[in-house]
Amino acid sequence: MTVLEAVAPAKLTLALRVLGRRDDGFHELDGLAVTVDEPHDVLRIRSGGSGVRLRVRGRASTGVPAGDDNLVARAAHLLEPIVPGASDVEVVLDKGIPAGAGLGGGSSDAAAFLRAVTAGAGVGVGTVLDVAARLGSDVPVCLHGGSARMRGRGDVVEPVAIPALRVLIVVPPFTLSTPAVYRAWDDLGGPSSARTVPAPVAVRHVCSELVNDLEPAAEHVEPRLTRFREALEDAAGLPALLAGSGSAYAVVCAPGVGWRDVAHDVEDALGVNVHAGLTMTPSA
Ligand code: C5P
Repeated sequence: MTVLEAVAPAKLTLALRVLGRRDDGFHELDGLAVTVDEPHDVLRIRSGGSGVRLRVRGRASTGVPAGDDNLVARAAHLLEPIVPGASDVEVVLDKGIPAGAGLGGGSSDAAAFLRAVTAGAGVGVGTVLDVAARLGSDVPVCLHGGSARMRGRGDVVEPVAIPALRVLIVVPPFTLSTPAVYRAWDDLGGPSSARTVPAPVAVRHVCSELVNDLEPAAEHVEPRLTRFREALEDAAGLPALLAGSGSAYAVVCAPGVGWRDVAHDVEDALGVNVHAGLTMTPSA
């Protein structure tokens, strides 16, 4: 019986342009995504037994399904034809990434499962790219890890080299539904966000400014977001951008900024947890 442990980091969009609605109902994207070491989930995978037995625990386990609709369970079933026995596992999923925050927690869990089980079986991760895309738009970029330009519906991933950036991730006490935010983007006529943040020097070879076209749509769906963002920007003294479809915001701190001090200032002012993380290099 094998026991594997895998870390699933949060996924963050530093830039996200939504180019239009596609015939398949998804939206065409062009963005820059990174994985961040905090917050993260941990999976403990024990092979053997019969079927997928999933236990979800941890401080961010609220709202995370433990049944067959969890992306880890779906990943196990889709992996079975490639790695026999992949769906006869006990998985303990320790959640640190909040759900409904736009941080790709479920996608990252599925990607971590695919990476760990294929590596354990001596199967190249290249054999599961198709499985990753079938699981969800964000799973391919999570499977790759590190920094990547993301196109298509999110499944066309091109690695880019970016030195580690310090980011603060700030999660409001309310969540957002990704399909609802994309629907609102359609209803609002497909807006390009006018609110941009100058890109850190280390990122300028990839994009000149950070932006998130889903931000107006998310702030339309959940009007409390706007006040939350303004209070966050006041407390941090730095601009914040919505992470993916929200509800979390990210603040990129330039080298030299006392980022842990900023994190404490924001925690004190807003009364919420702030995750201080570093962007990661690819795991594969
Ligand atoms: O691919 P995934 O299942 O993670 O997507 C969740 C939802 O987000 C989709 O059902 C769709 O409403 C929306 N979405 C989209 N365009 C994308 C990615 C996600 O419309 N590129």
